[in-house]
Amino acid sequence: MTSLAGVVCAVVAALAFAPGAMAHALVEQISPADRARLDAGPARVEVRFSEPVQLLQQSDLGVVDSSGQPVTTGPGTVQRADAAVIEVPVRPRLPSGSYTVRWRVVSSDGHIIPGASVFTVGDAALTAPYLGGPGGGTGPSETSAWSVSARWLELVGIGGLLALLLFRVLVWRSAWRPPPAMPPDESTAARAWARDAWWIGFGALALVALVGEAAVLVVKSAASMGTSVWGALADPAGIVRVLADTRFGDLLQVRTLALFVLFALGVWRFLVEYRSDDPPDAATADGGLGPMLLMLAPAVVAIGSLSAQGHASTSAMPWLQVPVDTLHAAAASAWVGGLAITTVYLLRLPRVAGAGGRLVGGLALARFSALAVIAVALLVLSGVGRAVGEMTSPADLWQTSYGWTILVKVGLLAVAIVLALRARRVVSALRRQAGPPNTATLALVRRNAWVEVGLTLVIVAASALLVGQVPPVS
Ligand code: HEM
Repeated sequence: MTSLAGVVCAVVAALAFAPGAMAHALVEQISPADRARLDAGPARVEVRFSEPVQLLQQSDLGVVDSSGQPVTTGPGTVQRADAAVIEVPVRPRLPSGSYTVRWRVVSSDGHIIPGASVFTVGDAALTAPYLGGPGGGTGPSETSAWSVSARWLELVGIGGLLALLLFRVLVWRSAWRPPPAMPPDESTAARAWARDAWWIGFGALALVALVGEAAVLVVKSAASMGTSVWGALADPAGIVRVLADTRFGDLLQVRTLALFVLFALGVWRFLVEYRSDDPPDAATADGGLGPMLLMLAPAVVAIGSLSAQGHASTSAMPWLQVPVDTLHAAAASAWVGGLAITTVYLLRLPRVAGAGGRLVGGLALARFSALAVIAVALLVLSGVGRAVGEMTSPADLWQTSYGWTILVKVGLLAVAIVLALRARRVVSALRRQAGPPNTATLALVRRNAWVEVGLTLVIVAASALLVGQVPPVS
């Protein structure tokens, strides 16, 4: 029995760590080969990658001489017969000299892959690749502060919107079922404040998500065009090309469309909820289950499109890794966002609704605390699943920068879990006590929660870096 379990574990591990069929695009072959010495110049230059790639502009594949003069006779193109090969025709009878081939392609998982090789013709000495001049520029890298912060904004905006919806459906709804015993004026004040706060949060996060999407598009355009972020902003045609001609652009359009559907549903529900001046009653304090579930659908599509665009989509098992990645991002949103929202509610409810505010805030806290255990369990399980899908062996954890970023995430998560366990002890004590929690206890829980929010937002930043790095499986 034990040996059977061992065999099953070995097979699962072998399958799980199997190299990706279509991972990050790698150069497989260059013709002429790097550092080749040729008697006569080639008719064309070809670069073969490990997966289909895209060329955004003609100058993204070029051949120049040692002073940077182009020696090509046509545009760089992706081969019709094989989208993994790019080629460019070269001037006949190249004079003796050292030549640089340079390229910048977009891989299936949306990464920009720049590269260069050199060859000589005749008895000329090999020189270092010529990287200056048009087509030789380098934009912000995938791991630059620009790329990571744009991605962080995008994750916080979309994840925050998902968290708001989940909070209303799973936490706030249950805090009012059955309605807590509190004076009617406190109950009314608590529900009215919560409705306003929720909609202000929705508006603010909608803005963050849109700014995040725009920032990601501009930074990706800069990387694709080999220019600075300011250069990309001054070149709207380049941005449109990235949006229209790349898989990254297609998925960004899907995401933006999903966000606009979410905003349109939001406008509709906002108008319904504020139709009368009266605050919502206990039965409608959650905005209504049906409408919130309807709004959750585009939010999930938006999160899912992030997974469909990243490394998960080019892993060995995309049918498994894309849903696992979506679950991971959704669980992270529910936990980090839910923590931040619960903390704001705990801060403000006692001020607007006195003891009643402490009571309903305590109920929301107890409910969130129970659900957070499930969210963190799913987060860890899906995170391990994703890590296994992107690595070739456990040693990648300490031998690659991708692995180190995962270790940093795990370390920060361990500290956050210690804090969460401390808070849980207080919450359990609150559950046993009758009546509203006292002010000092709530202040303690709040302080703890703010530190957790800070730590988890740093983990999200580490994740934004992780998705920009090259996974070991490539
Ligand atoms: C055991 C702990 C964890 C592990 C092993 C782990 C691992 C991973 C891996 C391997 C990825 C995929 C990166 C890629 O596509 O190349 C990822 C993505 C991500 N992780 Fe984690 N993670 C963990 C915990 C967390 C926590 C605690 C958070 C949030 C607080 C988090 C938030 C994210 C986010 C937002 C993404 C990006 C999803 C996307 O854009 O597709 N992770 N994680």
